[in-house]
Amino acid sequence: MTNKPTVVTCGLPYTNGLCHLGHLRTYIPGDFYVRYLRRLGDDIVFICGSDNHGTPIVVTAETEHTTPRAVSEHYHAHFDEVFKSMGIRFDRFGMTDDSTNHNRTTSILKTLIEKGYVYEKTIQQSYCPNCKRFLPDRYVEGTCPYCGKHARGDECDQGCGRHLEPGEILDPVCATCGTKAELREQKHFYFKLSEFRDYLLEYLPTLKGTINARNYAIGWVENELTDWCITRMMDWGVKFPSPDAEGLVCYVWVDAPIGYISFTEEWAAATGGSWQKYWCEGDRVHFIGSDIIYHHCVFWPAMLHGAGYQPPSAVVASGMVTIDGQKFSKSRGYVVWTKEDYLEKGLPADYLRYYLLAYTSHTRELDFSWKEFQARINNELVNTFGNFANRSMTLVKTKFGDVPDVPVAQEIFDEIAKTLASVEEAVRAYEFKAAVDGILLLAGYGNSYISNAAPWKLIKEDPAAAAAVLKNCLQIVKACALLIQPVMPDSAQRLWAMLGYADDIESHPIADALVPFENRTLGEIYPLFARIEDKQREDLEATLAKRAIEAQNKAAGKNTMSEEVKVEIEPFSEEIISIDDVAKLDLRVGLVVKAEKVPKTEKLLRLQVDVGTEVRQIVSGIALSYTPEEMVGKKIIVVVNLKPAKFRGEESNGMLFAAGESASLLVPLLDVAPGTKVH
Ligand code: MSP
Ligand code: ZN
Repeated sequence: MTNKPTVVTCGLPYTNGLCHLGHLRTYIPGDFYVRYLRRLGDDIVFICGSDNHGTPIVVTAETEHTTPRAVSEHYHAHFDEVFKSMGIRFDRFGMTDDSTNHNRTTSILKTLIEKGYVYEKTIQQSYCPNCKRFLPDRYVEGTCPYCGKHARGDECDQGCGRHLEPGEILDPVCATCGTKAELREQKHFYFKLSEFRDYLLEYLPTLKGTINARNYAIGWVENELTDWCITRMMDWGVKFPSPDAEGLVCYVWVDAPIGYISFTEEWAAATGGSWQKYWCEGDRVHFIGSDIIYHHCVFWPAMLHGAGYQPPSAVVASGMVTIDGQKFSKSRGYVVWTKEDYLEKGLPADYLRYYLLAYTSHTRELDFSWKEFQARINNELVNTFGNFANRSMTLVKTKFGDVPDVPVAQEIFDEIAKTLASVEEAVRAYEFKAAVDGILLLAGYGNSYISNAAPWKLIKEDPAAAAAVLKNCLQIVKACALLIQPVMPDSAQRLWAMLGYADDIESHPIADALVPFENRTLGEIYPLFARIEDKQREDLEATLAKRAIEAQNKAAGKNTMSEEVKVEIEPFSEEIISIDDVAKLDLRVGLVVKAEKVPKTEKLLRLQVDVGTEVRQIVSGIALSYTPEEMVGKKIIVVVNLKPAKFRGEESNGMLFAAGESASLLVPLLDVAPGTKVH
């Protein structure tokens, strides 16, 4: 044991959606790290919980006609269940909306207020005149002022990833109804983040963890550090503890990290432990994804320092998980759900644990694909690790019955000792891939050793020599089992039983890998890992592909479908007309060659339509459903013998057809030339 008491935390999952594979890149490495260090004897408490506040959860509750608390409890239970199934074992998995966290947040905020780090300021906040409400965070969408991409109120989620302050977003529109937002005055509370610049510039270079976290944070602090708005006008959250903060709760990124402390308090209360031992004296290590470095390395240490707490000792930030190079997105169908798409397909938790740890260096992006997943499992787990263990144990059992009573060669112990040292070094340096590769290297060493020594041949000439080889192999298998346990706890336990142990592998320190393998009777031997067959991989790929297609269809049909359901059917006309009346309408196919918005109007588009013999100008009230760019190139149906009329001073010479509120255009199904008559 070398280190101080350590609290390890993982980024708290929001309770407004299901657990996907991207999330797991925070939790699996965190769990691996804790398991490994504990088996080296370190004193660690492993803390997580769900993040219940913030606007997205309120939005979900509104759409589902329930309360934010109920939504939170639902997803909290989901994450708790998935984590357990994935072998991720927190000592405490709390909720930020529970009273411990309300109390700890209130106490920290009061200290910050007392110390003069908080001030009031009136700002221009987005307001929707249609929904008649202010639009905090997720309620407003617009353009990122830094990179120009489409962004949400508090985060540029599709572009540069920046945190956005209230009022910063450009061209804000209401995310619920699409109405252009107005700016109205609102009183808020600000944290004097700018005063912490010198402190952060001194602290950040000492922050341990992955280099990406430290470097990003230093870059941000060197460039700019503006004060931080820490309140929101809404009901859901921790009430802001000031007499003149009527209707204000604190911003979710204030109370969420404080949850790390609160959940440690809850763990201490339940177990008789001390939370101060970790938060005041020991080390604090945060596992997160690189999307939330700013919050953990800028806001959080400043807040802690201001309130007289110790800042993080280490921030371990993973690269993001993508699919086909795309960001995870439920609405676009780029998502693999941990429960539905993985666990319920019967895939073992251990495979995914292995894949996520071993695929690439922790700080790099991980582009998920089932093909790569299959290749890794089959090549490394089945062919190398499993094959070596299986061959060794089967030969012992079939050729010798019990484990041969011969000593293990020193070179084998040397090889194991080398592995123990290199794996520990890698784990402590947060190089999880290097750690797992080190273990697989030992299995690979064993595989080459057994292939070269060929004990199945040797046994005919020199049974004693064959016994010595196999004993060496068993020592390596034992070391592999002990080493791989933090990566694949379930497989390691099964391997332990095959080696003939009746106890829990976890009760053994990793260093037992150097304890000579005792003479014993092996347990029942069977293949440790099953191959992933092509058929199964194709099924998994098909599910993913179907998701993306469904999402595209849904997005394309969004307006028409959802509106249509609600539309009341207008009564049919009572006037009966003749075929001659119909024939009076001269309907033609027209091709839109140009389209512009009519200035100072909301709904009107001015179209130039090729009707075969000429290009006509037609003005139509479809601007809320189609952008000018979308209209160009569309073939539509036009009345060409209508008397010209003027709309807002613009001549319109013809008329097009569209159905319903969403103005679903009538278009020819097959390709026909402009000017073609419609009969
Ligand atoms: N609630 C915040 C964290 C508050 S911590 C005080 C949050 N929640 S989250 O549900 O969006 O993400 C939970 C964890 O999963 C975070 O550590 C986040 O970085 C990580 N990831 C979520 N999606 C991810 C990927 N696609 N790839 C890698 N990690 C990702 O953020
Ligand atoms: Zn941006």
